[in-house]
Amino acid sequence: MSKVTNKWSIKKLAGHCGARLEGVSLANASLSQLEEMRSALFKYGVIVMPGQNLSPENHISLAEFFGEIDVNRFFTPVPSHPVIAEVRTTPDQAEVIGGTWHTDHSYDEAPAMCSILNAKELPPFGGDTHFASMAAAYKSLTPGLQNMLKRLRAWHSDSSFENSNVGINPKKTAFRDPTLHPVIIKHPNTGVPCVYVNGDFTTNFENWSFEESAPLLSYLYAVITKPVFTARVVWEPGMVAIWDNRLVQHYATADYPGHTRLMHRITVAGVPLEGI
Ligand code: SIN
Repeated sequence: MSKVTNKWSIKKLAGHCGARLEGVSLANASLSQLEEMRSALFKYGVIVMPGQNLSPENHISLAEFFGEIDVNRFFTPVPSHPVIAEVRTTPDQAEVIGGTWHTDHSYDEAPAMCSILNAKELPPFGGDTHFASMAAAYKSLTPGLQNMLKRLRAWHSDSSFENSNVGINPKKTAFRDPTLHPVIIKHPNTGVPCVYVNGDFTTNFENWSFEESAPLLSYLYAVITKPVFTARVVWEPGMVAIWDNRLVQHYATADYPGHTRLMHRITVAGVPLEGI
């Protein structure tokens, strides 16, 4: 890690989301340092902290600072620490976990508030993760569309795990009924409005058919993932990234065939989402 001091240095990664935090060891951070880090998360949507080299125990303690751990019911657990999920790509895999734009656990009634990814083994190139601001996307819409979307809710489903080809083998019992969320949510901590639909898990608007929903959903996905609203995280050994699933979507890049990539991920429980 860069020189350890008693203050975080915070540098933005891009115009609308992302920041790099350096200067504090997460394993030894004080409460006020952790609180400052959490405020940065709510401001920037995704924060990266290089050179942290967290042990599984450090990773779990960090997650517990944010709240209760919400164990992902589809991923393979780390055998020694089952509250940690493995995000693994083997050299023979063409598709990767999270290789399409999504927010974690939007198929749950109370979607995960944040996810904490701890780099364990990185490919020699590629494997970057992209993030996109759902708050910036909302701001960019006209008042006419904002007002229409504020009145809508959308269904979210975990069914895309059924035919996934990303090296996980979900049990039949993991699947649950779809759940409804407002299309424009009020961020539970800051009140900022965000467009809360994503390509992996949102299926249709409430009382709209799939066919009717598809064009407007596709338009919203295209707005959210406009390059101007994104930041790209280039992983470094020992780096930790934390993202707020209510503020940003993410996309893991599958561009390192023949190589291994292993990340440890913990998701932290969130609350039911309210509209604005
Ligand atoms: C994920 O979707 O949680 C995986 C992100 C990544 O592996 O970069």
